[in-house]
Amino acid sequence: MPMHRWLHNIALTYSLSLYVQTSDAPYLQEFFWRLDYANDSTRRWDASVTEPTPEEASQARHRLGKEEPELLFKFAVYDDLNSDAEPKIFIAGEPFESHAYPTGHATRCFITYHISEDRVVFMKDTWRIVASDLVAEGRIYQRSQEAKILHIAEFVIAGDIPGQNQKTFFQPHKGLPQKQHQHYRLVLETIGRPLASFRSSWEMVNAINDTMTAHQQTVEKLQIMHQDISVGNVLITEDTNGKLGSILVDWDLCQSLEKLNDENTSIKRTGTWEFISAKVLLDPTAPRTVTDDLESFLHVLTWVTILLTPTEMSPQTLAATLRICYSGIWGTPDDPIGGMSKGTSLAAGRMSSRMFRLLNPKLHQLVDTLYATFGAWYGSDLYVITLEEDPLAIQELLDRLRDHKWMLDTITNVLSDADAWPADDRSHANSLPKGREIPNRKRKSDSEPESSRPSQKVRSIVEEGAIV
Ligand SMILES: *[C@@H]1O[C@H](CO)[C@@H](O)[C@H](O)[C@H]1NC(C)=O
Ligand SMILES: *[C@@H]1O[C@H](CO)[C@@H](O)[C@H](O)[C@H]1NC(C)=O
Ligand SMILES: *[C@@H]1O[C@H](CO)[C@@H](O)[C@H](O)[C@H]1NC(C)=O
Repeated sequence: MPMHRWLHNIALTYSLSLYVQTSDAPYLQEFFWRLDYANDSTRRWDASVTEPTPEEASQARHRLGKEEPELLFKFAVYDDLNSDAEPKIFIAGEPFESHAYPTGHATRCFITYHISEDRVVFMKDTWRIVASDLVAEGRIYQRSQEAKILHIAEFVIAGDIPGQNQKTFFQPHKGLPQKQHQHYRLVLETIGRPLASFRSSWEMVNAINDTMTAHQQTVEKLQIMHQDISVGNVLITEDTNGKLGSILVDWDLCQSLEKLNDENTSIKRTGTWEFISAKVLLDPTAPRTVTDDLESFLHVLTWVTILLTPTEMSPQTLAATLRICYSGIWGTPDDPIGGMSKGTSLAAGRMSSRMFRLLNPKLHQLVDTLYATFGAWYGSDLYVITLEEDPLAIQELLDRLRDHKWMLDTITNVLSDADAWPADDRSHANSLPKGREIPNRKRKSDSEPESSRPSQKVRSIVEEGAIV
């Protein structure tokens, strides 16, 4: 039985056979005896993480605003593009996003101090999936930068961490899909804050517009589709002059358009449950298209809108909507299905958007228009009536969502009259029935090992009225 123990930056893995302790088989004693004599490498210490010197630590504490006794660590980040180069050194404390379940390829994100450049940047420490059809995330950033794609974080450095311990053993068994993981660190210049921390609804919709533009440009210029549009992956940024912007992050599960629907792709259905299109939730084998990611943008917009902007929906109705439309899940843990109510809600078109009872007229107008058009894809009344009256018009209606243009135009149009938007309607969590937690199920991919029991991944993200 493999036994894993994950510390913040160090994974210890022991192979511990189920033992029967008899005088003939003192395996447990022998195991501890061997462990006691083993060197750091055998104990799976991560030699790329070390302790900073007192001078480095004090400089980093000052720049990161980290007080004692929080421990600081020194991380070596290697450069995939230049394997001869010395690693660059970054200092960080606790990751700012901790996961309730640290096994699996749990990713930790840090605000970190780049010693040699004297800058505060972002670092992601992750175990990426190694597969011939997947590209390391740093390469995506590097290619995006070369293609001058807007609204993507500025790339600094990324690379695999060398060493035998930094790669998982790979023993594919018959019928057991298994993935090999490689320890990887990525550093980005741009630091953002969560979409849910918006200071006005205009800013929130503007972030959707920006990140959808990034999505459009990577599809058109690089033929890559993101595949994990979620509320956590749209970040708001602010430059030193206070100019607002936003970035689309987390490109580690993106796929080239060409391989999107290959039967042999390493990643099948990916995304974050709440925001995956109803079509893909209902049928994991359905071919994926750009329309699915566009629909995910609509779910992000709607989810944030009903949760964090004024609505006349009762707390009970809001809770039920979140539970039924977004979190609904059935089937088996290995083969979960969902999306029925999400699809029905889209098919109801404008009737659904009216049920959200949004008090912000601009947001209502936007959600209403989008629901009417997405509804056509799910066989709404509008679709059925138009089909009878004007088959050409139905084509035009469906074509709107085959690429980004119509949806971007619609959003830009609603945003254009900035003065007509409320001036200071910052994010404020609508109340939910007492004791109810908002599920924030982070199901990244069907191929994710260990951590795929969706019901374990519920955690509360509402604290003191603000989403953190
Ligand atoms: C650690 O011990 C293992 C097993 O005895 C050995 O193969 C390896 O070379 C040692 N590593 C170092 C860095 O001494
Ligand atoms: C929304 O994005 C489009 C490009 O995709 C851009 O032309 C437009 O200016 C953006 N709107 C706003 C308000 O930033
Ligand atoms: C997918 O993999 C199977 C088994 O390895 C192979 O027979 C088949 O040709 C592959 N299909 C494609 C489209 O590459």
